[in-house]
Amino acid sequence: MSLKSHFQGKVIWITGASSGIGEEMCYQFSDFGAKLIISARNEGKLKRVNSQLPRNPGSAKVLPIDLENLSELPGKAKEAMSFFGRIDILINNAGMAVRDFAINTSIETDQKLMNINYFGAVTLTKSLLPHFQEQGSGQLVVISSLSGKYGVPKLAAYSAPKHALHGFFESLRSELVDSGIFISILIPGIIQTEITAHAVMGQGENYGKVETAFKKAYPTEKAVNEMILAISKRKEEFYVGGMEGVTLWLNRFSPWLLRRFIRNHPLKRLRKLKKSLTFWN
Ligand SMILES: NC(=O)c1ccc[n+]([C@@H]2O[C@H](COP(=O)([O-])OP(=O)(O)OC[C@H]3O[C@@H](n4cnc5c(N)ncnc54)[C@H](OP(=O)(O)O)[C@@H]3O)[C@@H](O)[C@H]2O)c1
Repeated sequence: MSLKSHFQGKVIWITGASSGIGEEMCYQFSDFGAKLIISARNEGKLKRVNSQLPRNPGSAKVLPIDLENLSELPGKAKEAMSFFGRIDILINNAGMAVRDFAINTSIETDQKLMNINYFGAVTLTKSLLPHFQEQGSGQLVVISSLSGKYGVPKLAAYSAPKHALHGFFESLRSELVDSGIFISILIPGIIQTEITAHAVMGQGENYGKVETAFKKAYPTEKAVNEMILAISKRKEEFYVGGMEGVTLWLNRFSPWLLRRFIRNHPLKRLRKLKKSLTFWN
């Protein structure tokens, strides 16, 4: 079955649709004929994305949300449901990164990241679950990270919610056997977006720069194309990205070796690791 026939007419709610991976998902899903509900905080950016959809520009429903406002999310989920009368796929993509040592990071920043990257996704999921159960179908997609699998310096506040996503959604998956509801956890490596420019530092101040590794990273369009293929195949867990994916394999089979590589700055170590493993190319 082609991606077009798989996604044609499906109602897909994408969070974090105003930039990066989520924005690119909007364009590709629209091209495959899906009906979109697009969410993030910045309504202006969402409207811009909507106007640029390749098929039926302006046809997506724009639903601004702030995942930090957890109490508002069940109401937002109801609103999302009302647009097309159903939702087939929820893509929990919105996220925020951090760049600071744990000791310099306030507990408020830890909580902020936990709310956006973990509780936000869990609240939206719980709000839609009864609807998915009623219709006997649905797919929950979670965008995790390599930081959801192992920890590295300066990413503790980001790594914690990403790890939590695995715990929650793997447990939920085991409860949903034979329900017709599928869960896909996607693990991007380093993808060419401005995520680091949008990141916060320990006291909540904006980090503000796109790190070099992200400028030269795996192209967003290609990554999203592969992610959409994985979603169509209902993959339970799927890595997308470049050579840094080898760390997943190392983490599984030789965690002590991986820990040696990431003792200092993770990206520096990953580049070294990549160099020393060029025979993999
Ligand atoms: N790029 C990578 O290398 C990489 C690697 C691993 C995992 N990921 C994950 O991929 C996902 C997308 O990241 P990206 O690279 O596309 O970064 P991005 O361009 O910074 O996109 C993040 C999205 O999340 C939204 N968002 C942030 N805070 C929000 C909040 N409080 N409420 C609602 N929406 C919020 C942002 O929109 P507003 O600012 O308009 O709210 C934006 O649309 C994230 O979960 C990230 O952790 C990315």
